[in-house]
Amino acid sequence: MSTRLSVLSRRLLPLLLCASLATPTLAVTPAGSASLRLPEPAAAAKAGPAQGEVQVMEPHLSRPGQPSVQVRYRGWPARVFLDRWLGKGWDLPEGELEFRAQDGFVSRIPVERFQRHQAWVVTGRVDGQAFQVDNHAQGEKQVPLGPYYLVWDNLAEPALQAEGGAVWPYQVVSVRRTPSSRAALLPGAMAPRYAAQAQALQTHCLSCHQVNGYGGDKMPLNLALRAREIDSKRWSAWLLQPAQLKPGTTMPPLSEGLPQAEREALAQQLQDYLKALPLQP
Ligand code: HEC
Repeated sequence: MSTRLSVLSRRLLPLLLCASLATPTLAVTPAGSASLRLPEPAAAAKAGPAQGEVQVMEPHLSRPGQPSVQVRYRGWPARVFLDRWLGKGWDLPEGELEFRAQDGFVSRIPVERFQRHQAWVVTGRVDGQAFQVDNHAQGEKQVPLGPYYLVWDNLAEPALQAEGGAVWPYQVVSVRRTPSSRAALLPGAMAPRYAAQAQALQTHCLSCHQVNGYGGDKMPLNLALRAREIDSKRWSAWLLQPAQLKPGTTMPPLSEGLPQAEREALAQQLQDYLKALPLQP
C-alpha cells in the first residue's frame, strides 16, 4: 500500500506544482457505459482461462540508440481476457476501449487496433523479478505495473517499436467500451484531411490531456485551446523536450523512436490540426 501511495503522490506532484493550469481530478468515470472494475489478478487467474507467456521489447526500459530490453510477461492474450471480462461484443466496430488507472491516466484504444495487432493483458514477469519499470520518458523510477498492464507483441511486429510506450497503459484497474472519438476529434468535414493527426493525438497526448472535454484526467488541459495560446516554437519545445522546460516533468517527449525531423514535423502538424479544430466552450 505504501508503495502505491508514494507512486501516486510522485505522479501527482507535477499536477500540484502547476495548479494554476488546472485542478487535478482523479479517476472520475464520465457518464456512459458502465466501467468494469477488474477483479484482483489472483482471482482472475483462478477463475480462468489459464495464463500464457509473451515476450516483448519493453518500451519503458529501452532507450533510443541503445540495445533494446526484452521482458517475458505472464498473462492472457487481450482477446481472451476481454471476452472473459467484458463479454463478447467488445470488439464491434466503431468503438474504443478505455483503460483507466487509479491516478486518472486514461488510454483509449480503438477496437480496430486489437484486430490489427496482438495485445496481451499481463500481471507479472516470468523471471519472478518485481513487476515494475523505470519509465525514463516520464522521468519516473520503479513504477509498479500492476494490477494489470497492457502490452503489444512488438517482437512479432517490429513496426510497433517506434511508438514507444504510448498505448501501454499500466496500473489498470478498470476497462470499458466507449463510443468512437470521431465526433470529438474529427467533427464536420475534418476527416480525411486530419485523420492521421487525430490518431496521433489520441495515441500520444489524450491519455493525459483533453480536447474539448474528451480525453484523460491526468493533466486535463484542453489542447485545442492551448495550441492557440502558445506560439509554434514553444509548442514544439514542450512536445519534443518537455524536461528542458520543466525539469522532472512526467510529460514524455513525443515519439523518441522517430528521427528528429519527423518528430518536429509531427509536432507542427499536431498544432495545426488542433488550431483547425472548432473550439467548444
Ligand atoms: C503521461 C502524461 C502526458 C502525456 C502523454 C502528454 N503530456 Fe503534455 N503535459 C503533461 C503534464 C503533467 C504537463 C504539465 C507540465 C508539468 O507540470 O510537468 C504537460 C504539459 C503540456 C503542455 C504545456 C502546458 C502549458 O504550460 O502551456 C503542452 C503544450 C502539452 N503538455 C502538450 C502535450 C501534447 C501535444 C502531447 C502529445 C504529443 C502531450 N502533451 C502528452 C503530461 C502529459
